[in-house]
Amino acid sequence: MAAATFQLSRPARLLVFGSPGVGKGTQSTRLIQRYPQLATISSGDLLRQNVTSRTPLGIMAESKMKAGKMVPDNMMLRLILNELSKRGWVNSGPRVPYTVQATSISDPMDYAVSTNPFSMDQVSLPQEYTYSDSPTASFILDGFPRNAAQAAQVEKLIPLNFVVNIQTPADIIIARICNRWVHAPSGRVYNTTFNAPKVDGRDDITGEQLTRRADDDPEVWKQRIVEFEKASQPLLEHYDRKGLLWTVNGNSSDEISPKLFAEFEKRFCRT
Ligand code: AP5
Ligand code: MG
Repeated sequence: MAAATFQLSRPARLLVFGSPGVGKGTQSTRLIQRYPQLATISSGDLLRQNVTSRTPLGIMAESKMKAGKMVPDNMMLRLILNELSKRGWVNSGPRVPYTVQATSISDPMDYAVSTNPFSMDQVSLPQEYTYSDSPTASFILDGFPRNAAQAAQVEKLIPLNFVVNIQTPADIIIARICNRWVHAPSGRVYNTTFNAPKVDGRDDITGEQLTRRADDDPEVWKQRIVEFEKASQPLLEHYDRKGLLWTVNGNSSDEISPKLFAEFEKRFCRT
């Protein structure tokens, strides 16, 4: 497929939303393959990188994730804000050069994280933000925002302009979760029945060992669903009121992708 066929006519700032295991990561990967101007930020992947690197934020988030609970909003905002800043999509007065690996306490963000990642009192975030309105600043947020409070925070940073709500029946999803394997350093996702790696247990690109996610246990997944359902309705209503919500139903990612591509092209691509 020729990448040049799909030039964005305006910046695309997507949220890909849906229940745990619905295929947000799968659809995000397919979107960036088809539209190379897009990039993706997965809140779950960022958190898992922090857990692996044993950053203070990762250590604090780990128990929440393992229990299938939401990580506190202030930590999530910090994580995403720094990622958006690092990529140059959001700018503020004082630069916020936090990276997932950063440990230096000379950086105010890291200092706050190193003292108490759950407290917003430790740091005063810059108040004014500007964002790039160029099609090159086009991105997918996978998993953030996931409640109305996070959505309000994001709006102060950079307004999203398309919210994709993926819906698949729960009994189909649970079977997928049990077969999911991941390449932790890159976030690449496999499934032994759906998109198996070329070599059993090995990442297609690096050949490194695949692992299971700590929260891919049926009991934890049920808790993740409970958390999701608590938070999702107000978030969906918020984006519906703004006219940004688009819901797609399907039993498989292969059924969903063509519908998503068609809608994306209608909204963002030159014809
Ligand atoms: P996160 O990593 O975002 O997890 P999630 O929302 O639970 O979603 P998943 O990543 O499990 O699923 P997915 O929708 O990406 O599906 P995938 O494409 O992999 O978050 C993890 C945790 O971090 C949260 O529980 C929370 O603690 C914390 N967190 C993250 N963001 C937060 C926030 N904003 N605020 C607070 N806390 C936050 O697909 C699933 C599987 O299905 C894969 O194996 C895939 O290969 C397979 N599959 C896909 N399509 C098909 C198909 N058609 N047929 C068969 N298998 C398929
Ligand atoms: Mg995911």
